Parts: sequence; structure tokens; C-alpha cells
Amino acid sequence: MSGTTARRNGGKMADVKKRLARLALATSHFTPGSPIDSLELFSGRLEQVADILGAFNTRGLHVALYGERGVGKTSIANILADALGARVGATRPTSVRVGCTSGNKYQDLWVAIFKKLGIEVDKYDELQPEHVREQLATLDSPTLVVVDEFDRLTDPDTSTLFADTIKLLSDEPTNATILIVGVGDSIEDLVDDHKSVGRALRQVRIPRMSQHELEDILTKGTEAIRLKITEEQLHQIASLSEGLPHYTHAMGLFAVQKAIEEDRDELTDADIENAKTLSVRKAQHTIVTAYNKATRSAHQDVLFDKVLLACALAKKDELGMFAARNVAGPLSTIMGKPMDIPAFARHLKQFSSDERGNILQRHGEERRFFYRFDDPMMQPHVILNGLSAKLIDDATLAEIKAEAAKEAEEA
Ligand SMILES: Nc1ncnc2c1ncn2[C@@H]1O[C@H](COP(=O)(O)OP(=O)(O)OP(=O)(O)O)[C@@H](O)[C@H]1O
Ligand SMILES: [Mg+2]
Repeated sequence: MSGTTARRNGGKMADVKKRLARLALATSHFTPGSPIDSLELFSGRLEQVADILGAFNTRGLHVALYGERGVGKTSIANILADALGARVGATRPTSVRVGCTSGNKYQDLWVAIFKKLGIEVDKYDELQPEHVREQLATLDSPTLVVVDEFDRLTDPDTSTLFADTIKLLSDEPTNATILIVGVGDSIEDLVDDHKSVGRALRQVRIPRMSQHELEDILTKGTEAIRLKITEEQLHQIASLSEGLPHYTHAMGLFAVQKAIEEDRDELTDADIENAKTLSVRKAQHTIVTAYNKATRSAHQDVLFDKVLLACALAKKDELGMFAARNVAGPLSTIMGKPMDIPAFARHLKQFSSDERGNILQRHGEERRFFYRFDDPMMQPHVILNGLSAKLIDDATLAEIKAEAAKEAEEA
């Protein structure tokens, strides 16, 4: 090999290495598939974290974190361990976490928790709240016990026993603070079914992330790989994520990949367009199947996808609920002509039927129905799909969003 060829090959290797290193850094910042587990990668949420830490410092008070699927509950629970800090010379962890699965019983969960805490448990035939309290009383410093995916529990006795445990730990405090994490309904059920637990449990709602918080995820990720992103590009990805950070991470990752491949130091608008398309094409299989089932039509009735898009864009309350009248505005804009409720009432009804996979839940009573997406992750997908299938263009989307923002401000 001549000296020149060897140098050239060496140069190429260095290029490949640099690109791989950049890619590795990008994938550690953009994590659409896993919760955040370190403070450096965590964006926003100061208010909620302060709320939880406040409870942590109040003896006898425990916490329930609740919110829609995918808003970032586990990530918050994870970084609390970091925020609380490891104690110097501690023999036991400051915080432990267990995730629930449907078959779990009270006893299984506590045995797992004790194991993580390094507490040797005597053999109990049937573990009761008093026994749990007895063991937790041996903790010599404040400890956070996270019980995640509480909504997956199916055994009603387990919920009752948890409620009893929290009540007991509130009346006779130990060094343990229990943090229960679950989707909204599960926490509501826990509190509704066991009224006495109410005072012992600080309920912290985790809303969708703000535009600013989502932009911060992108800023951090692009800064780490020294890639310039414009205000407009930040705004676009964050806004299309509809408050759900999974989409920001997914689009962020798709957008930077090409730039890294081409060794660029700037994101182009084409990268953003590409990210939007890929996020639809590579969406979770379950999301794609559910979307297709809901919108397929054998006849010339092609309204299903447009009505669903209008639902995704309808003004919603903080629980994600909307009424038929909230759909009329966006649908009229999409269709370019006035659309009254009777023109799409049938579609709404069908969206909450088995035939169309119950893509929407329906609540309330005749003439006062409220709807919401059964899976919150479906809403951004419907919008992204609408853009890529050209049911709507960017300008019209911006117009509808501006209208909704104005309405929200007036309300
Ligand atoms: N504060 C945050 N900063 C940056 N990224 C976040 C933050 N919170 C969540 N994410 C990202 O959002 C996605 C969903 O987060 P997470 O798994 O914590 O949500 P969740 O509410 O626990 O979801 P589920 O209801 O499915 O359990 C993940 O990709 C995670 O990396
Ligand atoms: Mg979670």
C-alpha cells in the first residue's frame, strides 16, 4: 500500500469512527423507546418534581403520580432517585422501584421491594400491611419506594391492601415514602374506593409536556452532537408531538440520523420532513393496525380518516375529552366547506364501536357525549398521518392550531 492510500484509508476510518460516536451520542439523547433515567437527559417538570420532593419531606405523606399513558411518569420517578442523591456511606438505596404486572399480588410486590431494599424478610404465610410497616420501620433514613404501573394490577385485594398500607404508614410513619404511579383512572379508583387514603396521599397530576419542555429535549440532543437546529425546526417537531415526549424523541432521532450520516453540522428542513414521514412509516405496529381498522372504508365514504383527523385536532379539556361540536370547526377547515354535526355524527359513533376498534372512548349520555382517544399516543399519529397522506397541509394545520389556541385563551 502506498503512503497516500494508507493515509486516505486512515482518514476514512477516522470519519467512520467520528460518525459512529456522534450516532451513539444521538441515541443516548433521543430515547423514544425508554424512560429517562438520568438528570442530565431530563427536561422540564420542575413543578411536579418540587411537589413530590415536598411530600417526601413531610413525614407520613405519600404520593400518587398520575397522568395519561406516555406523558413521562416513569421518567419522573426514575430521576427522583438522582434528585434525592445517594447518601454517603449508605448501605441501602435511597430509592427503589418495582413495576406491577397484571398477575401481581400484594405479597409479590413487597417481597420484591424488600429484596431491593436489602431487607431480609421472615417467611409470612400472608403478608399484611402491619408486617410491611414492621419491616419498613427498620429503615434508618428516608427512602422512596416507587410502585410503577399500578394500573396493571387486576387483583382488587391488592389495591385494598395498598390503600390500607398507605393509611397505616400515615398514622404511624416510618422512613419510607410510597410513590404510586399509574394512569389517571387507576389512581382515581384507588382514592374513590378507599376514601380514608385521601389525606395520606398527595396526588400529583402529570400533564402533557409543554412546547417549551419538548423543545428543550431537542436542544439538549442537538447540542450534544453539535448540530444546529433553527427555532422554526424546534417549533415544528415540538408542536407535532402534542405534548407526548415519545414523538419528540422519535422525530428528533430520525431528523439527526441523516445529518450525521452526511457529516453535517446543520439540520435542514428536508431532515424535518423526513422525520415526519418516518415517524408515520415506523410507527408502532399496534398504532398502525388500530388506525387502519378505524378508518378503512369499502364504499366511497372517505370521510372516516378526515373526521378522525378533526378529532385529533379538536379542542380538548385537560382529560383529553372533546364533544362533537369541537370537531365541527377543524373538520370544516379540512373539508373547505361548513360541516355540521349531523354530517359526521355517524362516524363519531362508529369510532367508539367494536367494528372500528373503539379508537375513541365515549362517555356521558345521549346529546351530551364526550369522546377521547382510547390510546393518547394515537392522537399525534393521526395528525402526522394526515400530513403525510396529504389530508391536510402544514399551513392549514397551523391555522387550525392557532384557532384552537385562541379558543383556549378565551376560555
Ligand atoms: N422529562 C423528560 N425529559 C425528556 N424526555 C422525557 C421526559 N419524560 C419522558 N420522556 C420520554 O418520553 C417517553 C415516555 O416516557 P415514560 O416512559 O417516562 O412515560 P410514562 O408516562 O411512564 O409512559 P407509560 O404510561 O407508557 O408507562 C420516553 O421516550 C422518555 O424518554
Ligand atoms: Mg411508565
